[in-house]
Parts: sequence; C-alpha cells; structure tokens
Amino acid sequence: MVAGVAGRPIAHSLSPLLHNAWIEGAGLDAVYAPFSPRQAGFSAFVEGFRGGVIRGLNVTLPFKEEALSLADQRSPLAEAAGAANLLLFHEDGRIEARNTDGEGLLYAFARQAPRLDLRAAPLVIIGAGGAARGAVAALSALGITDIRVVNRTYKRASQLAASFLGVSAWGDGQAGAAFEDAGVVINATSAEVSGGELNYDFTSMAPNAVAMDMLYRPLKTRFLKAAEARGLGTVDGLDMLIGQAMPSFQAFFELAPPPAIDARALLLAAMEAR
Ligand code: ATR
Repeated sequence: MVAGVAGRPIAHSLSPLLHNAWIEGAGLDAVYAPFSPRQAGFSAFVEGFRGGVIRGLNVTLPFKEEALSLADQRSPLAEAAGAANLLLFHEDGRIEARNTDGEGLLYAFARQAPRLDLRAAPLVIIGAGGAARGAVAALSALGITDIRVVNRTYKRASQLAASFLGVSAWGDGQAGAAFEDAGVVINATSAEVSGGELNYDFTSMAPNAVAMDMLYRPLKTRFLKAAEARGLGTVDGLDMLIGQAMPSFQAFFELAPPPAIDARALLLAAMEAR
C-alpha cells in the first residue's frame, strides 16, 4: 500500500517520518513517500493516480487549493476552507478531497490547553490567507459564533469574513478592540517565516487567555514568546501537524495510528537533528 505527501518544496516535510513510523508500528506492508510535482504539473500528477494505484495523498503548499478543485467529491469542511490537505483515490476512479487541518487545530488545543473551552469567549485569528481560512472554517463548523479576523490588509480580512456567519473583520489599527475579552488568539500569518514581526498588545484579552501559533518551526515563535511574557497560555503548531496526520493515516489504511508511538517526541528529535 502506498500513500504520500505532495508539496513544493517537500524535502523539509516531517510527514514521511511520522507516517512511516506509524506504518512500522502498526506492522503494515506499506510506505508513505514524499512527492514534489512541478508547479504547473500538479493536475497531471494527480490524474496519474486515478484508479487506486495509491491510497491517498496529503497535500501541502502550494497545491492545497488546486487539490480541492481537482477532486470529484469534496467534504463540506474542505469546501468551506477552500483547500484540501487530503486526497483519497478510490478504486472506482473517484478522487475525494478532505481537509483534516481543522481536526489538527482542535487536537493541538486539546493536548496543550485541555481546560480551555473554545466556545466560551470570542476568538481572534490573525491573518487572512489560506491558513487563516482553514482555521475559520473549522472553528465556525464547531459552532463558535464570535470569530474576529485581524489582518494587516483589512480588505483580505473582510473578504474572508464575508464567507462565514459570525465572523468579523478588523484591520491592524483596530486590533486593540478586536482583542477585547477574547479567550483565544491564533496566529495564522506567515509573518515570521518572512522575517517579519507581529506587534499586538494582548492586555485586553480575557483572563486565562491562550495564544496559539500554527507554525512549528521554531516551536516557540516570537509571537508565542510575546504572549507568554504577557501571561497567556501557549499552544504550538507541532500538535496540529500530528492532529491532521492522524485522520489522514486512518483514511489511508483504515486503522488508527498505533498509540504506543510518541509522535511529538519523534518529531522533536527530528527537528533538532535537522
Ligand atoms: P497562507 O496560505 O500560508 O495563509 P498567504 O495566503 O500568503 O499564506 O497569507 C499570509 C498571511 O500572513 C496574510 O494574512 C498576510 O497579511 P496580508 O494579507 O496583509 O498580506 C500575513 N502576513 C505575512 N507577512 C506579514 C507581516 N510581516 N506582518 C503581518 N502580516 C503578515
């Protein structure tokens, strides 16, 4: 049995390490491989797998939106997120798109902030790109009714907010008001990847508020350090990676990842070694 992950670049992906450890732990006769299709060749690459040569693919940047558009069948969450991180190749030729990033997000909160009730207070998401849309889709599907999207470019925030009920848009200049009484703030920007910095003031947030960063390299981002210095609880992005991989593995091989494998320790060791 073959499964894999497609992205460009892909060499840095931790998914093969994780899935192959689960495959070995479960005693499966299977392999999970990394693929890096040409930028313009993703569609032909996916079409080539139609019919079940491969069980499925995780999809990462920059192909998540295209993956959704290529599928014959789309889960409601993938549709709402506007992107798929999982393609399943059925034997009858159908290609099914799902999005398990939202499950990953919820898993990260469950692991690292187990007492937090995500529905108890307004929730702030910083960013309005693909990562932010995925988070809004997942949290909105949970029934959270006050989600505040804060973005450097207000227009993108308002475009994102317009697709969902109960989601409002805020520019950077209004961030102070958006943070008021919020219980959670999630960084879904790529600011730190490109060497930028986010300077938000968390002081108006609710007591016991929690900050989450969807990035996991480094594990403790500058955003999380700033939040921690303000007394907020923190949730890093590594468990989100694990939490999106778990339902993917289940979908590929029809069994849950073996619980005896400490996925977080495995990934932390690999990150240290690289
Ligand atoms: P992704 O699909 O990873 O979300 P994206 O669509 O390029 O990537 O979105 C990147 C997000 O990070 C956007 O919200 C972007 O803000 P703008 O819409 O104003 O561009 C945000 N971002 C990137 N660099 C940033 C920086 N230095 N400061 C603030 N926000 C930044």
